[in-house]
Amino acid sequence: MTESAKLLPQHIAIVMDGNGRWARQRFLPRLAGHSQGVDSLRRCVRACVARGIGVLTVFAFSSENWNRPAEEVSGLMNLLAKALGREVPQLNQDGVRLHFVGEKAGLADSVRQGLEQAERLTAGNQRLVLNVCFNYGGRWDIAQAAARLAAQGQPITEASLHAATALAHVPDPDLVIRTGGEMRISNFLLWQAAYSEFVFSERLWPDFDEAALDQAIASYAGRERRFGRTSEQIQAPQPA
Ligand code: IPE
Ligand code: IPE
Ligand code: MG
Repeated sequence: MTESAKLLPQHIAIVMDGNGRWARQRFLPRLAGHSQGVDSLRRCVRACVARGIGVLTVFAFSSENWNRPAEEVSGLMNLLAKALGREVPQLNQDGVRLHFVGEKAGLADSVRQGLEQAERLTAGNQRLVLNVCFNYGGRWDIAQAAARLAAQGQPITEASLHAATALAHVPDPDLVIRTGGEMRISNFLLWQAAYSEFVFSERLWPDFDEAALDQAIASYAGRERRFGRTSEQIQAPQPA
């Protein structure tokens, strides 16, 4: 791997937060913020494709977001269904492979079918894997992985549990970005983010543009990832 390729995260994960505040600042309903959030996601996907990022994982709806007002929850479900219909053909053309990560059982049949159709259509694409975490929680993922192993009578080890998680098809995220200024994980990627680098951006998600993404990537490039080792070990020339 070249020195510059090492500086580019292979897998970026994003907590797309701040849509509600973006709308409130403009005296708009919260859903207008979510709708703008879809536009921001489209821009971010394109930017990742252009930069050669292999995997983008985004948090779109958490297990806990069911606790929001019913009107907002149903609005978000509709927005997902509409966005799928509108965006998937272009994503497919751009070589994006879609994966939906989360508890599909909790979703309306029409939404679930739309997700599965998009996954099937884009299954052969190789430029960027886009994982959309919807009805997802890190605790749900760990529990469902453990339950699956237990049902198969398999031993629970780090490796077997990892292989049973919902993101086993991609390497762990190198960089986790949270927009909207909050500095918390909110039940995202609890297992997979064990050694991720974190960037917290004050930008609200609809305002998170290419320049903000590049800033996060530049911050990542300046980090020393030690994985428990010492700085001296990392900097010592490796034997060929
Ligand atoms: C993130 O934006 C999108 C979802 C959680 C669905 P928010 O809706 O949480 O926006 P804020 O945090 O209220 O500004
Ligand atoms: C996290 O944002 C979930 C998504 C972005 C989908 P929230 O806005 O739901 O997080 P909290 O409630 O502020 O922790
Ligand atoms: Mg929020």
